[in-house]
Amino acid sequence: MQILLLGSGGREHALAWKLIQSPLCEKLFIAPGNAGTAQCGTNLSIPLTDFDAIRDACITHHIDLVIVGPEEPLVKGITDFLINTPELENLDVIGPDKTGAQLEGSKAFAKSFMMRHNIPTASYREFTLENYQEGVQYITHHALPIVMKADGLAAGKGVVICENHLEAIAEFELMIQRAKFGEASKKVVIEQFLKGIEMSVFVLMDGKNYVILPEAKDYKRVGEGDTGPNTGGMGAISPVPFADNTLMNKIEEKVIRPTVDGLIKEGLEYRGFIFFGLMIADGEPYMIEYNCRMGDPETEVVIPRLKNDLVALLSAATRQELNKVTIETDQRTVCTVVAVSGGYPGDYQKGFEITGLNQINPEDSIVFHMGTSLEDGKAVTNGGRVLCVTSYGRSVYDAVEISKEEMEKIDFKGMGYRADIGYEFE
Ligand code: AMP
Ligand code: GLY
Repeated sequence: MQILLLGSGGREHALAWKLIQSPLCEKLFIAPGNAGTAQCGTNLSIPLTDFDAIRDACITHHIDLVIVGPEEPLVKGITDFLINTPELENLDVIGPDKTGAQLEGSKAFAKSFMMRHNIPTASYREFTLENYQEGVQYITHHALPIVMKADGLAAGKGVVICENHLEAIAEFELMIQRAKFGEASKKVVIEQFLKGIEMSVFVLMDGKNYVILPEAKDYKRVGEGDTGPNTGGMGAISPVPFADNTLMNKIEEKVIRPTVDGLIKEGLEYRGFIFFGLMIADGEPYMIEYNCRMGDPETEVVIPRLKNDLVALLSAATRQELNKVTIETDQRTVCTVVAVSGGYPGDYQKGFEITGLNQINPEDSIVFHMGTSLEDGKAVTNGGRVLCVTSYGRSVYDAVEISKEEMEKIDFKGMGYRADIGYEFE
């Protein structure tokens, strides 16, 4: 099978690493990829917004399967575009169509979907310029803190948690009146703050059936002890120590099955990954958000625990035969620790050489590239989150210790990482 994987982050490197372990993968292309994916297949220098060039690459390279990594092309309709191309009638795509991708592309769509299907979530209202004054009144009487969300995609920055009413009204004005997040904040969801502990669950759906992949917990804040601004994720662990069978069964019953049934009932033929971002409060799961893709860095711990052949698994999804698949999981604990550029998540510089990559002990650890590129055959930094070191261990503590030890062998100018990933579970 000839496969094209779209994206350029750690998620894509982890997927590429796993795809090429399959005897079913004849050739792997990654667009645009990074210095890590270049070790797994052929990088194609195509921007993800250039749908015509992606279509042309599928035709030229006789692609059988496209796997879409990030949300942006999905929300913009890459799946619809490719499957409606007459020359590509035998092409399969893993990733929902534009309507299915609205689960992530519109917070208001996701919330009303949850309401229609009785999926536990925070109470909410949505506002635009038209009912702006009503929104101000709603905020004034809302319990604190108040969670405010730009409706559309905002590069992970569209959620603001306000500790007092004045701050919330100012934020509301910035989002709606002053287009703080452009089009994305023309509509705003205001919701109840949920107190608890977060975790994420991942499902692969084929339009009719689904399988549940290993769960994970990520660490979003830049600073140790979960302090400082939010990032795309500074590290992750899997399994999640408190996610016992009782909790996982509840999540499946109260959240996953109603979501899958809801998608089917509403006629959305969802084929791809669903990422359930959950808050667990007093042992009960509440939906915070859906993503229409795998997480990053969660993929870098989920995929290393997956024992199934990934190409066979995705092929079963394209044939709507996931009901015939059993997910097999490595019982070891896996963690990943992310190395970031100095200044991230604010401004940072790129282009620094990365050293020590070939000194990593392959017995227990894998380096997945996130924001890197190749310059004269050398890996250089090309993003805020540069790479992550994933390790297997007997416990969270053990796996994190191994990652930190290996991380010390790697260096680039301004490098930093959180040394306390998994700290609550020591
Ligand atoms: P998102 O960008 O949707 O992933 O949200 C970013 C983060 O905001 C989440 O990971 C949570 O930590 C937090 N968050 C979002 N919604 C809520 C909520 N209703 N209650 C508490 N925290 C929330
Ligand atoms: N790590 C969070 C995300 O991928 O959205």
